[in-house]
Amino acid sequence: MQQDLKLNRRGFLMGTTAAALLGCGPVGARTQHYSEATVTPRPLSSAFPFRVGVCVQSPDLLGTPHFRGLVSEHFNQVSTGYEAQMTEVMREGGRNDYTGVDIIANTADAEDDWLHMHALLWHETVPKRLRDLAHDPDAFAAETWRHLDAMMARYKAQAKSWDVVNEPIENNTGKMRTDSSLFTQVLGPDYVKYALERAHKADPTAQLFVNEYALESDPAKLEGYLKLIEDVQKSGAPLHGVGTQMHIDIYSDPSDIRKSLQALVETGLKVHISELDISVNPKRRHPFDITEGHLQHQAHLMHEVFAIYPQVVPTAQQFAITIWGVMDHIHWMLVHPYHMRKDAPVLFRQDGSAKPAFYGVLAAATG
Ligand code: XIL
Repeated sequence: MQQDLKLNRRGFLMGTTAAALLGCGPVGARTQHYSEATVTPRPLSSAFPFRVGVCVQSPDLLGTPHFRGLVSEHFNQVSTGYEAQMTEVMREGGRNDYTGVDIIANTADAEDDWLHMHALLWHETVPKRLRDLAHDPDAFAAETWRHLDAMMARYKAQAKSWDVVNEPIENNTGKMRTDSSLFTQVLGPDYVKYALERAHKADPTAQLFVNEYALESDPAKLEGYLKLIEDVQKSGAPLHGVGTQMHIDIYSDPSDIRKSLQALVETGLKVHISELDISVNPKRRHPFDITEGHLQHQAHLMHEVFAIYPQVVPTAQQFAITIWGVMDHIHWMLVHPYHMRKDAPVLFRQDGSAKPAFYGVLAAATG
């Protein structure tokens, strides 16, 4: 499906001018220009010894031009974008809907991709049906564990790894999220250990992860996350990997990324950069023009992330780097109420062509 990779020579010519006008960038010394003229295009998944993943949604797999082709061409791991969340699966009236997840799982099978399920328990996606049970801890627990068991049983043959708990730690304090998490409130902070034990029982071969964001920018949060992981490990509950989402922006400092990865390596577990995207408009400016200069800075930071990961994470602890989205025009940050902005955070354009960020990833190729 090489034809999906439409190369844009015009971007290179415009880029040179724009970068020259903008001068040096926010992410340190950058001398390389990222384009098809400077980096030979090839499938991303062939370029690294670790897997390169991407998050997908069934409507885009089925209907968005170029989407499936790009997934097929460049990635060898897929994460479920939103459709495996509780709110999507546990519908009102007691009905469960697995349609979207089935489509993703079957696509992963057909493509021979590693399927990473995201996510079993996340405080942000508790459906009304479950929230309504919060006054009755036994019923709440029963419904929660029923969901976990059902998901794991259904996808046992297809999913190789799971984000069992997503975003358990509070920003800035590093404490277990409590005010904003019904799981902590109703099940108690040990719910993380219990969920891991339960998941391991449901599928003893699955690799189990916790997943968290802002670890590169919030030292207290990183510390709290490491403490939780240590507690889990001491308890003997099964945990195989740690996810660091890495929703960063073109002003992020690579040395912070390196430090957070070094700290995660200390756990001895597999390390998954699980939701990488790089905003070019983190201040949510409006109106906002995305320039070639922004895209070159983004490419440079992609290069840094893909170079730092194998430097810092020993081979045995490498899991994957997952990009959180295939194409810019359908990226979650454009529509999510918290972010809602003009942006271009990932590797491909609406017409399927590769952005400088794609060449930035390839510039770090080690495989
Ligand atoms: C995003 C999804 O990509 C969107 O489709 C959804 O509408 C909102 O959530 N942290 C996570 C992911 O763990 O599940 C979020 O994904 C992005 C932030």
